Amino acid sequence: MQPSQALTDKERAGKRIYVEGESPSGHAFRATIAGGTTVAASLVPCASCHGADGLGRPEGGLSPPELLWSELMKSYGHAHENGRRHPGFNERSLARAITSGIDSGGNALDAAMPRYAISQDDMASLIAYLEILEHEQDDGVSASRIRVATVLPLEGPPAEVGRAIRDALQEQLDEINARGGIHGRKLELAVLPPGDAGARPLEEARQLLARDPAFALVSGLAPGAEQDLSSLAEKAGVPLVGPFAPFTLRADAGARFTFQLVGGLRDQSLALAHWAAQEFPSGRIAVVHPAQDGYADVARAVVQRLRSRRCRGARRVEYARGEVESALVSRVRAGKTNAVIFLGEGSELAAFAAEAARLGWAPFILAPGALSARAAAAAPRLFDGKILLAYPARPAAERREVLATAGPRAGTRERHAAARVFARAAGAILAEALRRTGRHLTREALMENLEKLHDFDAGLGPPLAYGPGRRVGARGAYVVAVDLTKGTVRPVSGWIGVE
Ligand code: HEC
Repeated sequence: MQPSQALTDKERAGKRIYVEGESPSGHAFRATIAGGTTVAASLVPCASCHGADGLGRPEGGLSPPELLWSELMKSYGHAHENGRRHPGFNERSLARAITSGIDSGGNALDAAMPRYAISQDDMASLIAYLEILEHEQDDGVSASRIRVATVLPLEGPPAEVGRAIRDALQEQLDEINARGGIHGRKLELAVLPPGDAGARPLEEARQLLARDPAFALVSGLAPGAEQDLSSLAEKAGVPLVGPFAPFTLRADAGARFTFQLVGGLRDQSLALAHWAAQEFPSGRIAVVHPAQDGYADVARAVVQRLRSRRCRGARRVEYARGEVESALVSRVRAGKTNAVIFLGEGSELAAFAAEAARLGWAPFILAPGALSARAAAAAPRLFDGKILLAYPARPAAERREVLATAGPRAGTRERHAAARVFARAAGAILAEALRRTGRHLTREALMENLEKLHDFDAGLGPPLAYGPGRRVGARGAYVVAVDLTKGTVRPVSGWIGVE
């Protein structure tokens, strides 16, 4: 799908002036700002105050007005909130507002609006761009379609979950399209392959996206390259809603374009700490983790959280990757430990439980479900009811999965129930923000509407919320107990938020 309309050279030049404050013709372009200082216009481009979409970005008590041509040119003019009134602009009075800060009614504009020294050529380009700004759509949007892309492996071992996510997304978009789409546009899904997680992960996806741009990215799975999926979105400046990354240690809030659904292992581990502190007041809790940077950081945070909740006896016990032997188990057992928060991989948890059972010792074992569901379901019977897992979504969505991973007869639909639930949640969030953005679609406007989502039920259980500095929808977990006889899980907590 081609971008909705191609800009003329003059409009393209004007866009550069408007968005970046750069003169494409190489002329001097400077701005005098409040206080009388003169700076390069690139430090105060129009878009920084009036928005890349011309809708105005209120900030610090200022509300730069909308710069939509049809509004500016209205013959009866405007009365602004600050009391300033003026008749409609024409090209000459618009140029005067930009250079001298005098509006079409002869009023001086607030000093917050810089005065620009700009060549005649550049002014003509800028005005040509302002004229079409309100009709400009970002790439990936046409009059009748919105192109949404997802990065999914459809080959190799992760292909099965990749297909489950693709089908869930496609089903959801089909439902939306069957009801008429969003503001008259149908949603179209493109699946981009992540390629090998080699030297240049996601290179193929990046190239495909550059050739045929999508308006937004949704869900997506790049095993071993989770961080790269987020950088792909950041570098391309394309919003990414809900990458499916159950194994990430933390879902970072640093990225601007990436909207995570839930927190990573760190948040789930902290939720386990909250739960343990309540269930085992003054209990002796050991946080057992592999000696590896990310894990050690999480373990430290968990111990701190436990201590701040009066579990004075909380401590860390480190092990070398893959070396879960009787010495480790004895070390953990010493000091009358009654609960273990285990932050290793499934196979390591299985080894720990087997070794403990051999010694006839069955402490409570608490672990993030994404790592350990399979191992938990296969633990020795001695641990019945004593293994607790944290999940970032309502247990109902996960219950079948625990069952299914334990039982070979389960179909793929059951096996990937969680991936489907997360994919649909990402799709629901994107669709809601698209609806709120309206017909005039720009990525900036979409992101603003994502940031305005609060208390949003995406079907995961916890209500999700985003904001200007908030890129993780819900931080925390539910805790479930594993019933080893039935091979099922039973919720033992409501949503435990950890912010
Ligand atoms: C630092 C923030 C800032 C930047 C950068 C900025 N403006 Fe403004 N602009 C404002 C504010 C604030 C007002 C409202 C002033 C008032 O109401 O007195 C305004 C008003 C205007 C108006 C008058 C609109 C009306 O309805 O009366 C125009 C036109 C305008 N700006 C164009 C531009 C253009 C074009 C650029 C870039 C070359 C630009 N502005 C850059 C803050 C900014």
